[in-house]
Amino acid sequence: MKIVFATNNKHKLEEVRKIVAGKIEIVSLEEISCFEDIPETADTLEGNALLKANYIKNKFGLNCFADDTGLEVEALNNAPGVFSARYAGTAHDSEANMKKLLSELTDKENRKARFRTVIALIIENDTLLFEGIVNGSIGTEKKGENGFGYDPVFIPEGYTQSFAELGDEIKNKISHRAEAVHKLNDYLNTLKL
Ligand code: IMP
Repeated sequence: MKIVFATNNKHKLEEVRKIVAGKIEIVSLEEISCFEDIPETADTLEGNALLKANYIKNKFGLNCFADDTGLEVEALNNAPGVFSARYAGTAHDSEANMKKLLSELTDKENRKARFRTVIALIIENDTLLFEGIVNGSIGTEKKGENGFGYDPVFIPEGYTQSFAELGDEIKNKISHRAEAVHKLNDYLNTLKL
């Protein structure tokens, strides 16, 4: 069986394909010739994941899943959350996003934060949501060279180094996305295909 993963992010595809192996083939947007910008206009992670998955199901009639992730910082009322990619304005400027985050937290003692991923799966007539969370805290400065996004400032619970210092091998075992993908995989394994 083929399922579309509504992304063209090569890292995410590789990570998901490693976990969801076997009878299910994961195909990217590029592989179904979907080159348009899928709207991500909801104000929750759940809403955005559902928007993306529904878009593909409606337009291409294919089973599909989509993910959305946000960094939720307790002292900032869970901001940047669904706006994580564009926290400092322009989308996907990680340096500017981290700079803004560190500055918002300068005088805050509570530095607790979590990454939360939501995956929406639409398969035949069923819609399901899977959630993954990694708790941690925001460091006082950027550290490490690996990863992407907020990795240099996020220190997962139980560790003293940032995701960017810990590297992919450890991150992929404990991350928000890994947890959500494992839940998705467990569900797919229950299907009689
Ligand atoms: P997306 O929904 O996976 O595209 O994530 C939205 C934004 O959250 C990204 O642009 C990053 O800024 C941030 N983000 C998501 N996952 C991670 C992660 O694993 N590490 C660091 N930042 C992340």
